[in-house]
Amino acid sequence: MKNTIAFLGAGKMAEGILGAVRERSSVVMAEKSEERAAYMRGKYGVKVVPCAASAAKGAKYVFLAVRPQDVDEVAKAVRPVLAKGQTLVSIVAGKTLASLKSAFGAKARIIRVMPNLALRVNAGMCVLTAHDKTVEGILGGAGETCVLAEKYFDAVTALSGSGPAYFAYMLRAMSAAGAKAGLPAKTAGALALQTMFGTAKFLRESGMDLGEFIAGVCTKGGTTAAGMKKLDVASFGRTVDATIAAAADRSRELRQA
Ligand SMILES: NC(=O)c1ccc[n+]([C@@H]2O[C@H](COP(=O)([O-])OP(=O)(O)OC[C@H]3O[C@@H](n4cnc5c(N)ncnc54)[C@H](OP(=O)(O)O)[C@@H]3O)[C@@H](O)[C@H]2O)c1
Repeated sequence: MKNTIAFLGAGKMAEGILGAVRERSSVVMAEKSEERAAYMRGKYGVKVVPCAASAAKGAKYVFLAVRPQDVDEVAKAVRPVLAKGQTLVSIVAGKTLASLKSAFGAKARIIRVMPNLALRVNAGMCVLTAHDKTVEGILGGAGETCVLAEKYFDAVTALSGSGPAYFAYMLRAMSAAGAKAGLPAKTAGALALQTMFGTAKFLRESGMDLGEFIAGVCTKGGTTAAGMKKLDVASFGRTVDATIAAAADRSRELRQA
């Protein structure tokens, strides 16, 4: 078994993970788009081939990073070359371990991962279905990792997988509100973004309880308390509940389709 890492699909997510691989000479990528392949070769100096089966053959770790609708085609090509001792690491949303096993066969070990796009800036959240030192080492270089049973993956997909879009939505709303309050739009955006980043950094580094943190910022009768009252009246918590529940429901539907 060659100690190589193969990527099937060299798109945005594969690029993010590749950024965390230290030994790039051990990497081979398969990519359908010649334009994308040329970009990856030029930027990272990695080997990129058009054929998924030739990339996967003999690689110790095979990252499956194509879009869900392309999985069947890739599985058909790769299944005959997958062997015992190989590990298939799928980052494809909604493809269960059972469906991957049925598509790729039972010879290779299969780990499912739900990443998020922040791995592209080494601040991702990757949830894995099993421990593996090498895989956790690579994904850990692109952010945080944790291991959870697959039964949690609809919720994981809804929270950390889809979460970046929800935070960006909140950020856009706060920026627009800042502009309405009289700030130049660009300045409002910059203030909101740095505030979101700084809050996340502070909470992460201090480990402070969220209730204690909020109470600390909300001086009685002050400006933050006046704003927070509106969030309570508008049932912000209930809206967030419904958002995450809808995404988890959709994840369940897609998996059962
Ligand atoms: N983006 C996210 O935030 C996110 C979060 C969690 C999970 N994911 C999962 O990550 C996976 C990849 O997403 P992405 O955003 O990186 O997609 P992407 O940028 O579209 O990358 C997929 C790449 O795979 C190539 N490809 C398709 N069929 C192929 C084949 N048979 N052999 C070799 N290459 C092939 C595509 O080429 P063509 O474009 O020419 O078809 C494309 O360049 C998806 O399954 C998604 O569910 C994404």
